[in-house]
Parts: sequence; C-alpha cells; structure tokens
Amino acid sequence: MRIDIITGFPKLLRSPLNESIIRQAKKKKLVSIRAHDLRKYAHDKHKTIDDTPYGGGAGMILKPEPIFECIESLQQKRTYDEVIYLTADGDLFNQKTANQLSLNKNLILLCGHYKGIDERVRQKLVTKEISIGDYVLTGGELAALIVVDALIRLLPGVLGDSESMLTDSFQDGLLDCPYYTKPAEYTGLKVPEVLLSGDHKKIERWRREERLERTRVRRKNLIS
Ligand code: ADE
Repeated sequence: MRIDIITGFPKLLRSPLNESIIRQAKKKKLVSIRAHDLRKYAHDKHKTIDDTPYGGGAGMILKPEPIFECIESLQQKRTYDEVIYLTADGDLFNQKTANQLSLNKNLILLCGHYKGIDERVRQKLVTKEISIGDYVLTGGELAALIVVDALIRLLPGVLGDSESMLTDSFQDGLLDCPYYTKPAEYTGLKVPEVLLSGDHKKIERWRREERLERTRVRRKNLIS
C-alpha cells in the first residue's frame, strides 16, 4: 500500500511515522508513506498556503491552487483509490472503515489546517471525508496519523501472531477481553485462575464471556 499525505506541516508527521510498528512496516516494504509539503506548491516567495475567507469571518482557509497542483501531480503518476480529506464534519472513522481502506492500493490523505480548505477542493478532488471524532482539532495531521496507524496494522505481515489483530476490540463487533502477564499475583491482586489452568477450551470460553460482558457494560450499542 502507498499513502501520500498532503500537509502544510510535514514535521508534525515525522516522528509518529518513524517509530515502532509503522517504522517496521515501512522497512519491510509493506507500506510506503510520503508526506508532501503544501508550501512547495505555493506560488509566492512567502510560500503562502492560506488566505482569508470571502465574505469575512474569523480564521484562515487553505488556498485551492497548491492543493490542486499537489494532488494533480500525484494523480498523473498513479491511480488513487481515494482522496480522503480529514475534517471534523466528515464521516466518523471506525474499524469497518479502517478494514475497507486497508484493502486499497494507493491513498491520498489531505490535511486541512486553520479553518479548513477551499470548498472547490472538496467538490472536485476529494472522494471521501473522514472525522476521527466529534471535536475540532487544529488540523487534520493528527487525524491522518490515526487513520494511517489503524490501516497499517491491518496489512498482512505487519503484526506478528503475538500482536494479532484478529481479537482486537471492534474486529468482530465486540470489545476485547482483559489481559494479564506475569507475575500471577501483584500487590495482592491475582490473575484469574482460569488463565493459569492451561485448559485452552475453558480459557477461550472465559475470554468470549468477558468480551460480551465488557461490551454489554461499556458499549451496549454495539450488541443490540
Ligand atoms: N480536522 C479538525 N478536526 C478534525 C477531526 N475531528 N477529525 C478529522 N480531521 C479534523
């Protein structure tokens, strides 16, 4: 999979994309991620990428020309499955969307900043709009990182068996069960007996029940 992230603030992406599992996935060539600095597509010597909104009002809007030029130059090189704009008024991101997007070959993620982007970009270029939650961020960069993280861990070969995503919360509509590691007792708190029993059938049953119970208590809406 290839992911191109368009942003006016590429430094915001650098560290999270170069650590841990994402770093390993890139090293194994399971994903290629490129950050594109919108300022490189600015036309003036000050590298301006934003301007005031027509009609007045507070906040700045990302100008259309740098975004159009950046996306069109990428689209000349390859076909993209989606051009995704990260925005608080997009469709709420969830595991189902992550699963679907992880099947794509080439994605563009477009990060807004300040008050947003010129609407014509949304009309002409954007094919999907994603929000990571009902709150407003200063820009789409952190949201893009969350989407990238959620997708990459789903790519075949990225997670080892020990980190398998098959039992993740949400993967089959349920939250995940509690987990414990050594020691078997810590400050008087004991690991449930069943997990020490070595009886895999019993452990499976216990885990299933815990998942159902946790989901019922915390996220009833996922069951009904
Ligand atoms: N940009 C600003 N707020 C956002 C949100 N909640 N999700 C995605 N992108 C955003």
